[in-house]
Amino acid sequence: MTPREIVRELDKYIIGQQNAKKSVAIALRNRWRRLHAPENLREEIMPNNIILIGPTGVGKTEIARRLAKLAHAPFLKVEASKYTEVGYVGRDVESMIRDLTEIAVNMVKAEKSAEVQEKAQDLAEERILDILVPPVRRHKAVEAGSPGAEPEEDQEKTRHRFREKLRSGSLNERVIEVEVSAPQMPLMQVMGPVSLEEMGINIQDMFGNILPKKNKHRKLTVAEARALLANEEGQKLIDMEKAVKEALMRVENSGIVFIDEIDKIASSRAQTSGPDVSREGVQRDLLPIVEGSSVTTKHGMVKTDHILFIASGAFNVAKPSDLIPELQGRFPIRVELKSLTQEDFVKILTLPQNALLKQYAALLETDGVKVEFEEEAVFEIARTAYEVNEQVENIGARRLHTIMTTLLEEILFDAPDGLKSGSLKVTRKLVQDKLTSIVKNRDLSRYIL
Ligand SMILES: Nc1ncnc2c1ncn2[C@@H]1O[C@H](COP(=O)(O)OP(=O)(O)OP(=O)(O)O)[C@@H](O)[C@H]1O
Ligand SMILES: [Mg+2]
Repeated sequence: MTPREIVRELDKYIIGQQNAKKSVAIALRNRWRRLHAPENLREEIMPNNIILIGPTGVGKTEIARRLAKLAHAPFLKVEASKYTEVGYVGRDVESMIRDLTEIAVNMVKAEKSAEVQEKAQDLAEERILDILVPPVRRHKAVEAGSPGAEPEEDQEKTRHRFREKLRSGSLNERVIEVEVSAPQMPLMQVMGPVSLEEMGINIQDMFGNILPKKNKHRKLTVAEARALLANEEGQKLIDMEKAVKEALMRVENSGIVFIDEIDKIASSRAQTSGPDVSREGVQRDLLPIVEGSSVTTKHGMVKTDHILFIASGAFNVAKPSDLIPELQGRFPIRVELKSLTQEDFVKILTLPQNALLKQYAALLETDGVKVEFEEEAVFEIARTAYEVNEQVENIGARRLHTIMTTLLEEILFDAPDGLKSGSLKVTRKLVQDKLTSIVKNRDLSRYIL
């Protein structure tokens, strides 16, 4: 996708914040551009990591979330605050690369199994037919067929008949016994708290190869068995080694890590004792990864040089300059997201594909209640949200959620049996009736809205 197309796609869900959208779109496109650049330059072109800065609730995380769906690349979103310095209890920073690799492997696996889907389906069908019409029990076929015919031929016929039944779905509910390869034992848990993941060893694979593969008999309906066996056959058809190789290549060349809440690991210079030591430790652990180093994963070494990092944070306590300088330098692009205006709120309520009003309308629709929001009512909701944000605390578009729940609580409770009619109009007056008294009373709005 071109940068313009990416922005257009993001526009469907996020109102405003054009600068941020532009930067991430450019960064995303640059990955593609790099892969098509002359080979001798390709190694030299480094991704321009981005920091998104903006107050709470203005769409930072939302942009990441939508970007993930668009990227068609291994994409991982993590919270910086959940990592701890190496040596402390908790997840170390390198695990983000391991997770990203895992995502890539699953992604490639899913693609490959989609490719072999048809073949796997066929094989699964044959296996089910083998169960329904066992090849050894010929006499059954003889009984069913005409006396003169060859048993083999008959068997073919029966098989054919069953195949058609199978395809039409008329056998779906029938229960059969299937032999499936047993799920591997949950050895990981047995081993206790030592994180084996950190050693980069896949114990399951290790033991899985030593112990003989155990098969298990399970009773399943034909429909279930079909899905299960197709999956199993699919796994067999995939060349895992090749898939992993491909996955590693994708991680290294187009992987994206979104580090949310990065301001939570920044600390204002003044206080550098206590837990802050560990926060700075996390930052220091981040440096080599962002800069480019090799991380051992269970699938192999991953070089992080060309992985794109997008960080984001509200930075209302700490400032970007409170990050250790080395880390600041590794995020050369700074983008500020703006506070949302009242007009933005109106748009957020109505325009995005997942707009709040649409969500509530859809919810109530399931109960046979049609709600309609008058334009003036929407305006009033936006105005109220903006006002409360100004007076109490600015929590951005999240305020709309609290306002909407307060506004609609009664309706949501009454529907469907407590309402007189199946359709409902939310008018400006209704909004005012419900909200004005709460907004007026600062103490009350602090708790409710
Ligand atoms: N510009 C926007 N357009 C549409 N919806 C938005 C926008 N900004 C925020 N929202 C809505 O508000 C909610 C909160 O936004 P988001 O999670 O992106 O906040 P954030 O910027 O990450 O804040 P924080 O710093 O607290 O993590 C989301 O559910 C999203 O739907
Ligand atoms: Mg967020």
